[in-house]
Amino acid sequence: MYYSEDLVEEVRMKNDIVDVISGYVRLQKKGSSYFGLCPFHNEKSPSFSVSRDKQMYYCFGCGAGGNVFTFIMEYENYSFVEALKMLAERAGVELPEIEYSKEQREKTDLRNTILEMNKLAAKYFYAQLKSEQGKAAHGYLTDRQLSEETITAFGLGYSNKYSDDLLKYLRIKGYSTEQIHQAGLANIDEKHGAYDKFWNRVMFPIMDVNNRVIGFGGRVMGDGKPKYLNSPETPVFDKSRNLYGLNRARTSRKPYFLICEGYMDVISLHQAGFTNAVASLGTALTSGHASLLKRYVNEVYLTYDSDEAGTKAALRAVPILKAVGISAKVIRMDPYKDPDEYIKNLGAESFEERIGQARNGFMFSLEILAKEFDMASPEGKTSFLHEAAKRLIGFEEELERNNYIEAVSKEYRVDQEGLQKLVAKTAVSIGLATPAQKAKPTANRDRPKEDGTQKSQKILLTWMIEDEHIFSMVKKYISPDDFSTELYRTVAQLLYAQHENGETNPAKIMNHFTQEEEHREVAALFNTKIQKLTTKEEKEKALQETIIKVKSQSIERATKALDPTDMAGLQKLMNDKRDLDSFKNLHISID
Ligand code: UTP
Ligand code: MN
Repeated sequence: MYYSEDLVEEVRMKNDIVDVISGYVRLQKKGSSYFGLCPFHNEKSPSFSVSRDKQMYYCFGCGAGGNVFTFIMEYENYSFVEALKMLAERAGVELPEIEYSKEQREKTDLRNTILEMNKLAAKYFYAQLKSEQGKAAHGYLTDRQLSEETITAFGLGYSNKYSDDLLKYLRIKGYSTEQIHQAGLANIDEKHGAYDKFWNRVMFPIMDVNNRVIGFGGRVMGDGKPKYLNSPETPVFDKSRNLYGLNRARTSRKPYFLICEGYMDVISLHQAGFTNAVASLGTALTSGHASLLKRYVNEVYLTYDSDEAGTKAALRAVPILKAVGISAKVIRMDPYKDPDEYIKNLGAESFEERIGQARNGFMFSLEILAKEFDMASPEGKTSFLHEAAKRLIGFEEELERNNYIEAVSKEYRVDQEGLQKLVAKTAVSIGLATPAQKAKPTANRDRPKEDGTQKSQKILLTWMIEDEHIFSMVKKYISPDDFSTELYRTVAQLLYAQHENGETNPAKIMNHFTQEEEHREVAALFNTKIQKLTTKEEKEKALQETIIKVKSQSIERATKALDPTDMAGLQKLMNDKRDLDSFKNLHISID
């Protein structure tokens, strides 16, 4: 952090979160909070809440949350320093230049410069397409049945025949060759010097969710190779974290997305009314994509090419999506190659039918698996079922697993009870021996599964910031060390310190964390839904139970971790246990 804590806090305090967010989201007052449609995922009824008291926002639907800085960072796709600058300007707080480190400034400047260049380049390519020189390219697109409206909506363009045309243009605009190279718009080599990366191609600008041009794809008009050239990774372009078309699909207000392989697939689908289509940019679907998707939808339909590569890509994508809680279905395109060709030949209505016939991702993977076995022979089918049983263990939840067992037994005509037994037997023999059967991609880290321990701690923290009496009461029995994770303990320490000084300011606590994921977690901590308790007695009872839960779990953890030779530690534990026992018999009162 390059600015002092006080300054950061001043900027935060001068930007009331309700006022700031109202500039982006329509909010309506409901009780002590404001509610609106979440800008970070698709929804029809408002679960996005903003609290003036807490100076925080939190979405009960997708878990997005934080303070005013987090909101600007997430919404505008800004770094922390960028968000700080914007909010400082909004509130008329002057930021001293010196506190800004040189490297940091250069990094931010480079990002901004690249975004500016990309925007200029996109406009330039678009103008070329509409000019005389762009006639052939324009003809190419209209031959592929794109309307003028679609061309404009996607900002398609043309990079002309001269291999230094864009270079010249951007240099006139004041950019250096080195900058143009850093933006990925020019190549430099010893023999030829600097030359345009894209020439004589139809251009597809790639936008991030906030409609900023972060890169390009360029297609040859005809059969040349490579068919598509793409921008290299740059400080603003990370293929594994962006999806083509997401800037438009995010506002489609549909509960699922269509995921396809190519630029043209997305564009054709949108033109045909399927405005919820996106594509990964010529790469396999990553867990970065999956977490990005999870912000908007819980379900996706994979409409990959019907060739072997497309099938494989779909098979790989299913578990990656499942790991972040997205269920996947697979749409078949045969006898056509991809959605673009399908729609051209059979039209939107027929595609809609295919959506209706989509195969569940798991059943699809079994269908492909079955092709490897001789299903007509008893041995073949048995081997297939053994493999299927292994995969069925992947469903941890019993109800879900049983539903799949039922589906598989129907589909492959085997006795359901028999299959159930086989799954159980397989689980014992291999499932337990290798418990880490399921994929554990990095995305899992983003959204850890909540356990009961954490739930009680969250309830307690939310309660404490909402009610001063409760804070004073809890403080007598629970110390920051009683919280189970590093993040919770830090939050509790900061909160207790604030309380000592007579303030409760959860939004300030967030300034201590730098990652958006941490902001989400802290926001969740302070926005736990607490059961409506009406009478004072009910409240007291619930509070006592929660304190007991948190304390006894803390003692349990300490017991497990105790070094048997640590006599002082042992003594403390015994005291804690005794205190807890007497607390259980106490009648606590919250006034
Ligand atoms: P496809 O080869 O399926 O092309 O590649 P397509 O999308 O159907 O394109 P058209 O219809 O022939 O114009 C799928 C995607 O893979 C990436 C692109 O993102 C493309 O849209 N790709 C393909 C490349 O990046 N480079 C290539 O040379 C080919
Ligand atoms: Mn195609």
